[in-house]
Amino acid sequence: STASSGPLEGMRFDPVMPNTDDALRIPKGYQQKVVIRWGDPVLPGAPEFNFDEQTPEAQAKQFGFNNDFAGLIPIAGEKDKYYLVVNQEYTTEQFMFRGYKEKEPTEQQARISMAAHGITVLEVAGSSKDGSLTPVIGPRNRRITADTPFRLTGPAAGTDLVKSKADTAGTTIHGTIANCSGGITPWGTMLSGEENFPDYFSGFGKVTDKTASERLDRYGFEDDADYHQWSRYESRFDLDKDPNEANRFGYVVEVDPTDPKSTPLKHSALGRLKHESANIHVTADGTVVAYTGDDERFEYIYKFVSSRKIKDGDLRHNMGILTEGTLYVAEFSSEKPVSVDDAAGSGRWHKLMTVASDGSATSHIKGMTAAEVAVFTRLAADKAGATKMDRPEDIEPHPTNGKVYCALTNNTKRGVDGKPGPDAVNPRNENKNGQILEMTDDHAGETFTWDLLLVCGDPNEADTYYGGFDKTQVSPISCPDNVAFDPHGNLWISTDGNALDSNDGLFAVALEGDRRGETKQFLTVPRAAETCGPIIGDKRVIVCVQHPGEEDDHSADKPFSHWPDGGDSQPRPAVVAVWRDGYGPIGG
Ligand code: FEO
Ligand code: CA
Ligand code: CA
Ligand code: CA
Repeated sequence: STASSGPLEGMRFDPVMPNTDDALRIPKGYQQKVVIRWGDPVLPGAPEFNFDEQTPEAQAKQFGFNNDFAGLIPIAGEKDKYYLVVNQEYTTEQFMFRGYKEKEPTEQQARISMAAHGITVLEVAGSSKDGSLTPVIGPRNRRITADTPFRLTGPAAGTDLVKSKADTAGTTIHGTIANCSGGITPWGTMLSGEENFPDYFSGFGKVTDKTASERLDRYGFEDDADYHQWSRYESRFDLDKDPNEANRFGYVVEVDPTDPKSTPLKHSALGRLKHESANIHVTADGTVVAYTGDDERFEYIYKFVSSRKIKDGDLRHNMGILTEGTLYVAEFSSEKPVSVDDAAGSGRWHKLMTVASDGSATSHIKGMTAAEVAVFTRLAADKAGATKMDRPEDIEPHPTNGKVYCALTNNTKRGVDGKPGPDAVNPRNENKNGQILEMTDDHAGETFTWDLLLVCGDPNEADTYYGGFDKTQVSPISCPDNVAFDPHGNLWISTDGNALDSNDGLFAVALEGDRRGETKQFLTVPRAAETCGPIIGDKRVIVCVQHPGEEDDHSADKPFSHWPDGGDSQPRPAVVAVWRDGYGPIGG
């Protein structure tokens, strides 16, 4: 196609302009409707949401707070029915409880907060007329909370590193927390990354063991981080009282949405880090390659290559795939000068550990056992010589072009206070706006090449790059977080933390031909919200609106958003469906 032929299929919509409205803005000729919001009923018997009469028991049956990842899985044999799987990353107690005293929850408030975390499986019904989705409150639905039992798999399972006061076997972990992005596997399960888990633990300053303290420090544990204060009511969240509990979070979790009674898994073969997500590519011989990023400044990109092959229709076998194989971490090298227009190079994957089919595990890192690599993966990656990145968020293989896309969201500390300066793949000091990495990976192998598709920020600034497309014709994008693909192969990016004086939003980006790099904004979310979990279907876009009204320090006690209920209501995180008038193709 030529530039004069106009935007690619899937990108033919009038872009939404940057704005700071307290509303979800969509293109002209499109419609929207909330699918479910914090507090809405999920399980049979759940009460309707009542802001002034919350209980832990009610919350455990209702939709949780701060939805992040969303996936839509068709229900076999039932027309237009789906499992909507959504995680609930964290709670903002100031917005949940009237008169909340910061860091001083009552036991009732702490237990509501625990129940508002985790994962929701919700049956939804589509419509033949439009893109709306209606919750079906029935036996298929499930709430997984900070209390639900998980089984730990991989080299960490059963080792002393993960034995706790309540679990002397080191195999059963209560709850999943801090779930950020995720992915849907080819075998129909949900993956979700446990990310900022140190924010849930107290007592760092009381840890006297030097090794334990250094390990916690490498993961960012600190005395002030725990704004939830669950440890007041559950001693397992006090590092001084139950030192190994912290080693039981920070994994990729896997949930079978088709069986609400199934025990979800935590996969230690994918390492323990601040996992943003995990997304899968399957090679021609059925090998599974799972990509995952560690979202913190100067952290790394990883991949897991399975030794088991996919077996069609064998869910039990397939849910064991992420337990056997090799974990790698990425080192990037530059073969060109550092320039945002010209950033490209090669790279290699360093082996960290391998798990054999009998479950025995081998460390590839001197001085560390395989169990230590699985639990203290950041320390192993440090020794392997991996490249320190600008906060790797979502990473996802393209469904058809063979490439892998990663959102490097920002890194305001790059080149500051003695921290590492720019390199070819992280080319800017004090990087406020982030970049999109495009890797051409030898998926099951150990080498790759890479390119920067976008170097985000104000297109009028010289240090930005929009894939070579005319920068006067693009929507400005900043702080990419989640990535997804539409059925035409265009990349879609949701943002978190827009540094360009606009609300966050969702953008489509052309990858091929002479429109490569064309970037168009499809929607903006309400004030101070983050755009998450996008699902780009043929005729429906689903987006999670996370933390509307929240300021970055979590301490705002006066919400400056009243979305979605309006008036003087409290803001409520919610999942929204967007479709075109007449239910036509998105961007068609
Ligand atoms: Fe929860 Fe990395 O964003
Ligand atoms: Ca994220
Ligand atoms: Ca994604
Ligand atoms: Ca983010």
